[in-house]
Amino acid sequence: MSVLRLNKVCKKFKSGNDTITVLNNISFDLQEGESIALVAPSGTGKSTLLQICATLDIPTSGVIYINNKNTIQLSDNEKAEIRSKYIGFVYQFHNLLPDFTAIENVIIPLLIQGVSLKAANEKAKYLLDNVGLYNRINNMPKYLSGGEQQRVAIARALISDPKLILADEPTGNLDPYTAQKIFELFLSLVNNINTSLIVATHNLELAEKLQVCVTINNCELELC
Ligand SMILES: Nc1ncnc2c1ncn2[C@@H]1O[C@H](COP(=O)(O)OP(=O)(O)OP(=O)(O)O)[C@@H](O)[C@H]1O
Ligand SMILES: [Mg+2]
Repeated sequence: MSVLRLNKVCKKFKSGNDTITVLNNISFDLQEGESIALVAPSGTGKSTLLQICATLDIPTSGVIYINNKNTIQLSDNEKAEIRSKYIGFVYQFHNLLPDFTAIENVIIPLLIQGVSLKAANEKAKYLLDNVGLYNRINNMPKYLSGGEQQRVAIARALISDPKLILADEPTGNLDPYTAQKIFELFLSLVNNINTSLIVATHNLELAEKLQVCVTINNCELELC
């Protein structure tokens, strides 16, 4: 069962009078339970590719299928619904809502789906406990360290048991020891729910823990 399929995706940006090509003819098919590490130098298009996979950005040309559904013609609302139902995203910079506590940040995706507050809170507590933050659930993000905030972001991405998780440098701003621990935790939680996964990372040691490693070379995907 295909979870995410890209067909000939290109992305160009306008920069003054010039056009820069970032992604050229990217095609792949990610099946249920498969995981891909995306390891490529800074500025080669990892974040751009993940944003396009998540329907948060649109390609210049090409098609993105999520669960075999063509997303190109969908309205913003329809895309938001697909994201809410199928995709968990961990951003390069954790991106928590600053005016909400850790647990509120985690439950929001479920509340949007219409899950009751009680059920959402229970699940969020379970996940925050799993990432070692049970005693910090009522803290505002600014009182949490970078690693703690990233663990909240991971709990938030997992709360709706998404079929697809897209993680952009989920441990990029952490020290190597914490990065390794959080990455392993992340993978064990992901394996529990048999989710498909794409992780952009600069860390080759972490990349080796995933099934396939790809890079971006000359705007195209290549196996590492
Ligand atoms: N909105 C935009 N307008 C113009 N150029 C952009 C835009 N977004 C990204 N770019 C350019 O596209 C290229 C790829 O950027 P992207 O953020 O995807 O790289 P990355 O591989 O994620 O890098 P990093 O490892 O530093 O996070 C860069 O040259 C960037 O400047
Ligand atoms: Mg990036």
